Order: sequence, then structure tokens, then C-alpha cells
Amino acid sequence: MAEADARTGSGPAPVEVRGLVKRYGELAAVAGIDLTVHAGDVYGYLGPNGAGKTTCLRMMLGLIRPTEGTVRLFGRDPQESAQALDGVAGFVEAPTFYPYLNGRRNLELLAAFDGEDARTRIDEALDTVELAHRAKDRVGGYSHGMRQRLGIAAALLRNPKLLLLDEPATGLDPAGMRDMRLLIRRLADQGITVMLSSHLLAEVEELCNRVAIVRTGRIVYEGAISELKRTAGATYRLSTTDDERALAVCRAQPGVSDARVVQGRIAFTADDAAVAELSQALVEAGALIRILAPEHVTLEDLFFSLTEGDGAASAEAPAVVAG
Ligand SMILES: Nc1ncnc2c1ncn2[C@@H]1O[C@H](COP(=O)(O)OP(=O)(O)O)[C@@H](O)[C@H]1O
Ligand SMILES: [Mg+2]
Repeated sequence: MAEADARTGSGPAPVEVRGLVKRYGELAAVAGIDLTVHAGDVYGYLGPNGAGKTTCLRMMLGLIRPTEGTVRLFGRDPQESAQALDGVAGFVEAPTFYPYLNGRRNLELLAAFDGEDARTRIDEALDTVELAHRAKDRVGGYSHGMRQRLGIAAALLRNPKLLLLDEPATGLDPAGMRDMRLLIRRLADQGITVMLSSHLLAEVEELCNRVAIVRTGRIVYEGAISELKRTAGATYRLSTTDDERALAVCRAQPGVSDARVVQGRIAFTADDAAVAELSQALVEAGALIRILAPEHVTLEDLFFSLTEGDGAASAEAPAVVAG
């Protein structure tokens, strides 16, 4: 069961989810998820509202029972025992505190559940999340961002090797988001593996090395962000001496997809080899190339093409237009 992490080769992977399903009546909130988070990853679980992110994290933290499938954290089943959550910490939705107690007192109460060691980590945790100077203030007076950071401080009391965070930056103002990003980056640099859910593409693109993109409970992509961009194929813009004919050539050309007219120019998606062959086919058809230029595909474009529509996203999706 507890296989070595295929990538790091050192002990079981922090997270292995296989065939995970959670049904509420007719609704499959999580509809068969497989994913692996490797040691050292900052892993983004990215999807629009209602995609099943919180439900998935709840199962991972052992808060609710899967309908089907398994979760393994460092090879252990969080449903089986509290010990399976040794080295794991995090929260779903918002962390909860006693608003009439101060930040430190809240952490002391939580540390009481986690043993003497946890107590000795309070100062360091407050420092890490930059709340030491506000530790004596009542949590009721904290901003949303401060409460999120206190939630992370609470998680750090457990000295985690894996942090599971549900939309840590959602609802924060730009400065709060930046602080949260810096904090997560610091934790990752200290060797903590992080899995965070988000519906914010920019956040994930900036922070995470690997992603799962989810849509209505299913993963539509899992892997490295760099690989996602590469396999998506570049989008090209084309202008020729005979665009009508060129469009027909593009549509007939193997390896070229999504050929359409955008703002008076032909746009299509293709890999390098297909583009070379296309240029020859255009010449043969008598449509001479005036402009043939690749365009930058952002994670945002990919996200929308993966999470919108009903598989026929290409026909409906807004054209990818250079900024
Ligand atoms: N306890 C529950 N009972 C019924 N439906 C639920 C419950 N929890 C979540 N859902 C539904 O499951 C879907 C996924 O919810 P959620 O995991 O909260 O998504 P996300 O966190 O990605 O926004 C939604 O349609 C939500 O209404
Ligand atoms: Mg949620």
C-alpha cells in the first residue's frame, strides 16, 4: 500500500488520491478523482466555485467519509485513525477561533490538543505568519487576512510536513493576497509540502509547480503547469493573400485544430511540426503567407477552455486574442 514516492523515491507520497467519489443524493460533488502530490510540491487544486474542492479536502482531512475511493497521506488512511494525520495540518473554508480571545490564547487552546511540543511552537508560528505584534489582540478585531494567517499558525503548531489549505487567499485584498503568497512560499522553502485549492488562476500560476484542474468533480488536467502550457499547443495567427482558401486549408490540415476567423485574421492551434506542413500546404493552395505568428497562451485561456462548455469548448470559447 505505502509505495515509495515515484518521483522522490523517499517514502510514500504526501498525498495519493485514487478513485475518490463523494455523492450527496444525486449529486456527485467529487466524481472520481485521482491525484498525487509529491514531497516538495506546491500543488494547486484549481477549479471554479462548486467544482468540489472543499469536499475533496474534507475527505483528505478525514472530516467526511468518501462514498468511494481512497485517500493516502504518507501512505496512511485519514479515515482510519487520527494518527494518520500526524505531520498533516490544514483547514477547510475558514479557520474558526474564539473571537473574544486573543490570537495567542486561541493558539494555546489549540496547542492543548496537540501536546507539549505544540505549545513550544506558538511564538515561532506567530512570527512566521507575522502576527506576533497582534497576538494580544482579540481575534474578533482581526481582518480576514489576519484570521487566515492565524489559521496557518494553528496548522504550524502541528509541525506539519504537509499543509492542506482551502482557498487561503480567497476574499483577501491585493496586499493580503501578496502576504499569503509570500507566506506559502516561505513555508514551501522550509520543506513543507503544500496543497492548496483555489479558483484564482493568477495565484496558482504564481505559486504552484503542479496543478489539478477540476470541473464538476472531475479532473480535466493534472500535472506540471509548464507541461500543460506545452501540450496545449501554441495558438497561431495567420494572414494570407487568400484567407478564404487558407481557412479551408487549415481546417483540412492534420495536426491543426480550432481554425477560425478572429478579428479578421485566421487563428488556429497546432504543434510546430504541423505548422511547417501547413505553410507548405498554403503555398500549394496559392494562399501566400503574409503573417504567421505564435501567440502566448496563458493559464487563464487554458483554464477556461478546460472548465467551460461541454467538451465543445473550442466552438463556444471566446477567441484567444493577443493582449
Ligand atoms: N454537505 C453537502 N450536502 C449536499 N451538497 C453538498 C454538500 N457539500 C457540498 N455540496 C455540493 O457539492 C458541490 C461541490 O461543493 P464544494 O466542494 O463546496 O465546491 P467548491 O469548494 O469547489 O466550491 C456543490 O454543488 C455543493 O453544493
Ligand atoms: Mg470551497
